[in-house]
Amino acid sequence: MADNKKNEFEDKLLDHTYDGIQEYDNPMPRWWLLTFAGTVIFSVIYMFNVGPVGNGKGRIADYEADMAAYAAAHPAPTGGDMSADQLLAIAKDKEQLEEGKETYTAYCASCHAPDGGGLIGPNLADAYWIHGGAITDIYKTVTNGVLEKGMPPWGKTLKPEQLSAVVAYVSTLQGTTPANPKAPQGNPVTQ
Ligand code: HEC
Repeated sequence: MADNKKNEFEDKLLDHTYDGIQEYDNPMPRWWLLTFAGTVIFSVIYMFNVGPVGNGKGRIADYEADMAAYAAAHPAPTGGDMSADQLLAIAKDKEQLEEGKETYTAYCASCHAPDGGGLIGPNLADAYWIHGGAITDIYKTVTNGVLEKGMPPWGKTLKPEQLSAVVAYVSTLQGTTPANPKAPQGNPVTQ
């Protein structure tokens, strides 16, 4: 009994001899063979999934698609990347306009007057603009500022949503009649 058990684990000599060299029959352990077979099967699936041989788009296209999806879901905060449509949509949203007004009162009113009539900074309610009156122009001016003329850049100070909201709010000042309007500066813009 004890002998039998011992035999089970004993290496088996194969019955061939080459130049006097004999070998044991030592198969790879089962777990190793299964792992190996698994990697082979996986490699086939992988090849067909990620191309260029198979029907996948390939890792670079996958990466670019993921990045594009991310960019679409997270519009860039600064640098004139908000589209006119996005800004005009905010200008129609009561809640965001209210936030824009709060930001305006806190950061802009000291120079542009609470009603946009202008003080140190120009009148924002008239149709004259130094840096363009399209909503995307206003977004650019507010983001980048005109430091040499005394208009601070707000792109890094304000949160992206504050920035968009305050620009949307400024756009709604058009055509209002401020109490003490500053004389027009810049060129007339017909919207
Ligand atoms: C320290 C004073 C100051 C503050 C604060 C300030 N501005 Fe100005 N802003 C100016 C001056 C000065 C100009 C004119 C720049 C020029 O002459 O080129 C200006 C220009 C602008 C213009 C362009 C006007 C045009 O005719 O093209 C916009 C839009 C504007 N500011 C919006 C804002 C907003 C929004 C805020 C608040 C987030 C703000 N400003 C805060 C001083 C200021």
